[in-house]
Amino acid sequence: MLVIDAAVTHLENLSSLEEYLANLGKKHQTVGVKVDSFSAVGESLLFMLEKCLGTAFSPDVREAWTRLYGAVVKAMSRGWDARKEGE
Ligand code: HEM
Repeated sequence: MLVIDAAVTHLENLSSLEEYLANLGKKHQTVGVKVDSFSAVGESLLFMLEKCLGTAFSPDVREAWTRLYGAVVKAMSRGWDARKEGE
């Protein structure tokens, strides 16, 4: 949640988090996290937001959160791919 918070705070300049997120992705790969598990975490995040926000969780809000989470996962995946290629 701290990382999602940081992503929201840096929404206008997400690239400033690129290096940190790539390293975080690398760390997850090292501890055995599968890339597929990220979709389960994303679905949980959206489910939690839907439950908390109720009717305020409009299609636009859902789309915005889906994009934000997607950007975080994409940036984390960069660390993943780089590691695989290096092996
Ligand atoms: C976008 C999604 C995720 C974010 C933002 C995230 C973020 C983080 C952060 C910030 C840490 C602490 C890293 C540190 O100690 O330096 C961490 C650790 C960890 N995460 Fe995630 N995580 C995500 C998804 C997942 C998923 C899908 C799994 C597994 C199903 C997972 C498993 C773990 C584990 C096992 C650790 C502990 C690693 C250790 O032993 O230090 N994470 N995660």
